[in-house]
Amino acid sequence: MCGIIGYIGSKKASPILISGLLRLEYRGYDSAGIATVEKNGLSVMKDKGRVKNLYNLEGIDDLEGTIGIAHTRWATHGKPSKENSHPHLDNSKNFAVVHNGIIENYSDLKGFLEKNGYTFYSQTDTEVIPNLIHYYYTKDKNNDKDRILRAVQHTCKDLKGSYAIQVISKYMPDNMIVVRKDSPLVIGKGDGECYISSDIPAILSFTRDFYLLNDNEFAVLSRDKVEFYDIDLNKINKNVKNIEWSASSADKNGFEDYMLKEIHEQPTAIRETIGSRLPENEPCNFDDLNFTKEFLTSINKIYIVACGTAMHAGLSGKIAIEKLCKIPVTVDIASEFRYRDPIIDKNTLCIFISQSGETADTIAALKLSKSKGATTLAVSNVIGSSITREADYSIYTHAGPEIAVASTKAYTSQIVLLSLLAIYFAEILETTSVFELKDLKKELLELPNKIENALKSSKRIQEFAKNIYQEKDVFFLGRGVDYNTALEASLKLKEISYIHSEAYAAGELKHGPIALIENGITVISIITDPKLVEKTISNIQEVITRGAKTLVITNQELPANNFDTIITVPDVNVLLSPVLSIIPLQLLSYYISKEKGLDVDKPRNLAKSVTVE
Ligand code: G6P
Repeated sequence: MCGIIGYIGSKKASPILISGLLRLEYRGYDSAGIATVEKNGLSVMKDKGRVKNLYNLEGIDDLEGTIGIAHTRWATHGKPSKENSHPHLDNSKNFAVVHNGIIENYSDLKGFLEKNGYTFYSQTDTEVIPNLIHYYYTKDKNNDKDRILRAVQHTCKDLKGSYAIQVISKYMPDNMIVVRKDSPLVIGKGDGECYISSDIPAILSFTRDFYLLNDNEFAVLSRDKVEFYDIDLNKINKNVKNIEWSASSADKNGFEDYMLKEIHEQPTAIRETIGSRLPENEPCNFDDLNFTKEFLTSINKIYIVACGTAMHAGLSGKIAIEKLCKIPVTVDIASEFRYRDPIIDKNTLCIFISQSGETADTIAALKLSKSKGATTLAVSNVIGSSITREADYSIYTHAGPEIAVASTKAYTSQIVLLSLLAIYFAEILETTSVFELKDLKKELLELPNKIENALKSSKRIQEFAKNIYQEKDVFFLGRGVDYNTALEASLKLKEISYIHSEAYAAGELKHGPIALIENGITVISIITDPKLVEKTISNIQEVITRGAKTLVITNQELPANNFDTIITVPDVNVLLSPVLSIIPLQLLSYYISKEKGLDVDKPRNLAKSVTVE
């Protein structure tokens, strides 16, 4: 899950490449580098550490090349070091490559190349790629304009695994070649110039016109045109896609960090996600699906599959779909689901949630479900992302670019979109009364304003964060939908505050974890389901008796003076309460992380988009 950037045009490439990399740093940030085509051959500048270190490299300002490739790395094969940084050169130093993904058979390929006289200078899987290109280039005796393209094609046929690759060469001073398989890559088309990137926001300030490359497609870029080829090098046609996101939506907009900005963008993200899906006095509108009653009646089981925060959104989706549509739903972690031989047939609907649309395990789970005959539906935030191109159907959250590694606005938008989906199904299936659905729709439309209200807890949360930022362990408790919020809140705390935390279904506490409760430990509980208030309070009482400090997030009237701190969020239908109750808990993780002086947006060891398994 590295980030790649490329430029071909008439401007100096290096500043464009570095600014693009800075925007992609959330994908990986342990080393960075650029390669440009200069008058006397290729120049490669790279080092361990953050992208901004590139500005200090000697000679970086002297680069004149107008074609270049660049990379910010999240180490998989080989520790972060200058040698392991991209771009990688072949032994002749005439081909430079950046790569995102993993070459699974790299040691076989390395052995083959070593037998053929090649030497390796890094521990990466990537270094086989430029050397294989060189190998096939020198074997090809036909010196026509497609010689390098053929060498790249032969190389790709040898590679097993996932890759998005950019190639430049001394022998190709006016072109660049890119190819992808199971790793993201987009091409931005400007006037007399092209940009390459792992994702759209990184190059939105340069262009709004994009070509989306599918698996096993090659693009040969010139300054003024892009030619596309399939794996057998037959030419293919592609249309430019215009992307409406504004470049400023990918900036911090006055906030100290992207995460804080994205937390505050949740009212807008929800408004945009609801969009025109709830027309007054009409059924919920999913033009992009158009499912029939016959089709939905044939569905007897739904899987919701995702990773991380997206999986937690799926847990809320399960509760909404089961309640409103009476179809059993199983929520699965993608990396478990895909290796478990799940029971799937043509009457199964599989829903895959992925903010980025590029998470490798979720994509693999989708491919598996499709091969077993299920109908597949992707829920993503990125139009044209890999997962949406694989799925039978796609629906989108319209949260705008999410840059902070820890997901916030995508999570709440996913819950909202799944609730809308549940309403849409229920209206077709007629499994819930129209009055109940009408109320729920009204509540959905009120959510953005209620989020604004929930955000007002910010000051109190900041104070609370000051009290607990040095804790080593924190517990989160909840029942029903509130258990899902506990799981997500605990993940947020781990991700950005590096505090060990556990989330427990409150009723499960006495089956083991209560042994860990001792004097002074912080226990955070969520209570929003009116049916479960008393039950959860009894569980909190059990930890109070054992000396725990308690924070309760609630929209219910609770008996006074039982708890140390109570934060109230607006009242709402229980199916939607996870959208509101997570807000103070997102803020809590944020302020603890700030209190500890950590890098909120780029937490250690994590990446935004996990395109490796
Ligand atoms: C990574 C990110 C999480 C995200 C998860 C799934 O672990 O750090 O924030 O929830 O991937 O990402 P996706 O793009 O598939 O929703």
